[in-house]
Amino acid sequence: RFAVSFAKSRRDIECGSDQHVLDAARQAGVRLPASCTQGMCGTCKVKLVSGQVEMKHNGGIRQREIDQGMVLLCCSKPLSDLVIDK
Ligand code: FES
Repeated sequence: RFAVSFAKSRRDIECGSDQHVLDAARQAGVRLPASCTQGMCGTCKVKLVSGQVEMKHNGGIRQREIDQGMVLLCCSKPLSDLVIDK
């Protein structure tokens, strides 16, 4: 399990390496915007301050955004501890 910190809301949760970050956040009671939960709509897009994820999206994010450190939490699993700008 990895530690996931939401920097702005000051919430720290744990997320299994086989678990999508959005699901872990919801289970911990952290409210995040999301819609399709399948990596298509972009609603769950956030900026990753530090850490790495494995993301399998379906077109909900552009390569340019990925290059800028954005991720879709509904289809991202942690590969390390994470800090999220949210
Ligand atoms: Fe639609 Fe994540 S909720 S891309």
